[in-house]
Amino acid sequence: MAAVLDSVRAFFAPSIFTIDSENPSDVVPRENLLDRAMGPNRRKKSSEKIRRGRIPAEGLALVARDRDGHVIGTVRLWNIEAGVNADGTSINALLLGPLAVDPTFEGKGVGSAVMRAAILEAKNRGHGAILLVGDAAYYERFGFFAEKACHLVMPGPFERSRFLALELTEGWLDGAAGMIVPSGRMLAKAPLRKAA
Ligand SMILES: CC(C)(COP(=O)(O)OP(=O)(O)OC[C@H]1O[C@@H](n2cnc3c(N)ncnc32)[C@H](O)[C@@H]1OP(=O)(O)O)[C@@H](O)C(=O)NCCC(=O)NCCS
Repeated sequence: MAAVLDSVRAFFAPSIFTIDSENPSDVVPRENLLDRAMGPNRRKKSSEKIRRGRIPAEGLALVARDRDGHVIGTVRLWNIEAGVNADGTSINALLLGPLAVDPTFEGKGVGSAVMRAAILEAKNRGHGAILLVGDAAYYERFGFFAEKACHLVMPGPFERSRFLALELTEGWLDGAAGMIVPSGRMLAKAPLRKAA
């Protein structure tokens, strides 16, 4: 039902926003949006340990823009290893988050559109699975469920019922067990200036 509602919203309101790749000038407005939508504690989450100092997965930092080009929605996905399979081989996957929509645009299908675009892009780029920590009541509509992540753990406190996974390739997370660790590229550090 939620998927039907999403499509109806998208059909009737196709022009109030667009989905785009994030560019460097979006960073400040994106961070401001996240502060507004998620509050000051957002940097204390366990997911943040995975993201800190890393670059999002290639092509998987997306924004929604209003008609004037302002950032009104954001989602990024991060390369991770989602534990190991029964053979002990690391499982490559993505961690999604944070997802946020400008409060003045909530309930207009922006979150769903940016989620669906991110999932499609991840699939097109050959990724096998996406994990996230969030409200199951929201993310189930996109196919995320706790079952596939039930033997995986985040590197810090998390609520088991909010730790969800979506397989983009069927069976990708079969037997997946262990801790989520970041595997994405590190942010380049600014070179230290020599004292004069
Ligand atoms: C969650 C969020 C991204 C949704 O974006 P949005 O553009 O308002 O979402 P959409 O318009 O695509 O979908 C709206 C639907 O999602 C539902 N919804 C929104 N947040 C929800 C939640 N946390 N749990 C369950 N349902 C939720 C709405 O009730 C609405 O339901 P309906 O389809 O039955 O009417 C946005 O509200 C937000 O940024 N919240 C603050 C940050 C946050 O919580 N991020 C996600 C971390 S779990």
